[in-house]
Amino acid sequence: MVAPLQGLKVVDMTQVQSGPSCTQMLAWFGAEVIKIERPGGGDPTRNELLDLPGQDSLYYLQLNCNKKSLTLNTKTPEGKKILTDLIKEADIFVENLHPGAIEAMGFGWEEVHKINPKCIMGSLKGFNKGSRFEKVKAFEPVAQCAGGAAATTGWYSGPDNIPTQSGAALGDSNTGMHFLIGLLAAIIQREKTGEGCYVFQSMQNAVINLCRIKLRDQQILDRLGKLAYYACYPYEKFGKTIPRAANAEGGEVLGWCYKCKNWQTDPNDYVYIVIQQSQKGFEQFCNAMGFQSWLTDPRYSTPQARDEHKREIYAAVEAYTIQKGKYEVTEELGAKGVPVGPVLDWKELEDDPDLNKDGTIITIQQGGERGTFKTIGMPCTFSNFTPEYKRAPSLGENNEEILTGLGYTQEQIAQLKTNKVIQ
Ligand SMILES: CC(C)(COP(=O)(O)OP(=O)(O)OC[C@H]1O[C@@H](n2cnc3c(N)ncnc32)[C@H](O)[C@@H]1OP(=O)(O)O)[C@@H](O)C(=O)NCCC(=O)NCCS
Repeated sequence: MVAPLQGLKVVDMTQVQSGPSCTQMLAWFGAEVIKIERPGGGDPTRNELLDLPGQDSLYYLQLNCNKKSLTLNTKTPEGKKILTDLIKEADIFVENLHPGAIEAMGFGWEEVHKINPKCIMGSLKGFNKGSRFEKVKAFEPVAQCAGGAAATTGWYSGPDNIPTQSGAALGDSNTGMHFLIGLLAAIIQREKTGEGCYVFQSMQNAVINLCRIKLRDQQILDRLGKLAYYACYPYEKFGKTIPRAANAEGGEVLGWCYKCKNWQTDPNDYVYIVIQQSQKGFEQFCNAMGFQSWLTDPRYSTPQARDEHKREIYAAVEAYTIQKGKYEVTEELGAKGVPVGPVLDWKELEDDPDLNKDGTIITIQQGGERGTFKTIGMPCTFSNFTPEYKRAPSLGENNEEILTGLGYTQEQIAQLKTNKVIQ
């Protein structure tokens, strides 16, 4: 079994979630990832949301499996020398420090390119270079807000009509995955040119890219003054920008989230059902639900007519779903060709028998007091490769191995410790 990135060396100065989610994938693809952490605590997530006192947090563990940890104060001359030596051997150098920090340390793209012209450098920031927000620090919700996700998520009327965060890490892990795409493409490019390039990924861009259909909707609204496929249509007036979409599907199919029989006691006893726009899909839906009369009823027989009568449709479908549990509805309608899915909560996902078997949710043997923990594995599969999932490193666990590899003697390593260059 040959790991796709076997032999590739990554010097990783990323922290928190966005950058580490990217380098986690690089490590799972087989690259050697050396995570550089500040002496005196390391990645801030190590000590965030602690569930076991004195142990690295689940937040850290989930994002740093299969990596090596080197503590290094890269603001000291000795630390800069070590980082320079690491970059000389690296295929990729990545960072997501606050805007300007890596340049202030002397490791901006121009310097890195001079140190090792073959090395690909990647920076992940909140906003693009040249943006009026270029210097602004960013966390997840900042990106969701500035990337068009928050403005379009949530309810479109009443007291809940406020910008809303998605539970998915659109700003963090999504940006990490975009970053990953850029870096992998840069590796392929380097095979042709022999030279590394600079990959820059902003969190705002990653969110905008996932929200691309909202720009489609905005232009339709600009032209037509309405969006018939939005949940608020035809019941509310449109303004100059697209409203929040609530649970509408987002295309010309009619999708909605329906209550199931235990919704009053179980906040996730809901099911999502899509009525397809194609005639065949609509027929399958009508036959599955026993709504054969809808096939010829002018209120429902075309996608356009269905947009005009959404609330009647929602009510009729819910009269069916509310008598059953979400799994029952999914099984019944799914078997009859209707696109349908239960709303799964995180207790259900954590224990899901399929996902725990097929490598989606994996159990890492961390050892020590932690024992084991669960995380999300590589989200795609290869026909000829399965990652070997390893535990996350403790702070500075690989100091000696890495520094010895660079030619440092035991005495020099001890001196670096005394000088607080490493911890
Ligand atoms: C996440 C973020 C908001 C945190 O900002 P921050 O609190 O200023 O923390 P940073 O780690 O970036 O920088 C703190 C300092 O540590 C320094 N530092 C980082 N690693 C170091 C190391 N190994 N050795 C010495 N100093 C180090 C930085 O140079 C910086 O010094 P400065 O303040 O004198 O310039 C910011 O890094 C950011 O906006 N990053 C880009 C977007 C991003 O990825 N966000 C995270 C989403 S999960």
